[in-house]
Amino acid sequence: MRTVLALSLSSFLSLCAFAQSPPVVPEEKNPHNTAADRAAGAKMFRSHCGPCHGTRATGGTGPDLTTGIFYHGGTDADLYRNISNGIAGTAMPDVFFDGTQVWQLVAYVRSLSERATPATPPGDASHGEQLARAKGCTGCHLIRGEGGAKGPDLSLIGSQRSVEYLRDSILNPDDKVAKEYWVAKVLAKDGKSYTGFVMNQDTYTVQILDFSRGLTSISRSDFKDFGIDRGSVMPSYKGKLSDSELNDIVAYLASLKRRKGGSE
Ligand code: HEC
Ligand code: HEC
Repeated sequence: MRTVLALSLSSFLSLCAFAQSPPVVPEEKNPHNTAADRAAGAKMFRSHCGPCHGTRATGGTGPDLTTGIFYHGGTDADLYRNISNGIAGTAMPDVFFDGTQVWQLVAYVRSLSERATPATPPGDASHGEQLARAKGCTGCHLIRGEGGAKGPDLSLIGSQRSVEYLRDSILNPDDKVAKEYWVAKVLAKDGKSYTGFVMNQDTYTVQILDFSRGLTSISRSDFKDFGIDRGSVMPSYKGKLSDSELNDIVAYLASLKRRKGGSE
């Protein structure tokens, strides 16, 4: 359903041609915004969006949608576009709903933040930033240009994950480890052993980002033994951080956000 967008773009262009200055950017208003539309949107949300954004939309593997802050744009037209097309380069998928259904989802998502005051997690983000270095987080994670490659890049983690998810990732890293972070252990026939993330594999070779050697290609015919560990290489910080240190680190991670209304 791209008609709505095509229309708004062409009317935008004709407006620009007509009125010299200032250019008028048409606000595409949601035409399906009754209580019944919001209820229909809520129902679709629970089944299709809840698995990532949480059944109450407070976030999970996708961000909290109840704060009223939308980093990819907060107009009705922006929400329509992001829900309909997905957000390229992120885990946010496109959907197969028709135009009316997408507007109903927009109506529901919008209603979530009507009474919202953006929640800032308790904790001191700037102390959290120091802790992220002192506690070794940047030894594995890249954060805004600094750090390692033994874990996911956290530079935008605050707009990708909820506060609860962040807390849980630090305390229970072995929960829900994404496949690309499972650890392969290869013992080769020549006695060498390799440990790292599998980057690529085909019938003949496996490419491993070995933790000490870097990217290494190994022929399957040289394998003596091969195993996959589905746990995380990230240690649990349960009991290793005080409650206030944990709050500070979570506050820091939550502050690592996309700039409002656009891409980085
Ligand atoms: C597979 C997981 C997944 C599903 C399913 C999903 N989302 Fe998302 N969504 C995400 C992620 C991850 C982001 C954050 C993208 C980023 O900024 O990196 C996101 C971003 C968004 C945004 C933009 C937030 C902002 O700050 O601008 C909106 C709005 C949104 N989702 C709504 C929905 C709706 C409505 C549905 C159901 C039709 C849905 N999402 C389904 C993962 C998902
Ligand atoms: C030995 C390397 C290592 C260290 C040290 C480490 N991490 Fe991780 N971290 C990982 C890996 C690998 C993953 C991905 C697998 C998983 O989900 O546990 C991960 C996942 C995460 C995630 C979830 C990211 C996502 O998008 O799902 C967060 C948040 C995180 N780490 C924060 C931290 C913080 C904060 C610290 C320091 C207190 C830290 N990590 C220390 C390796 C590490």
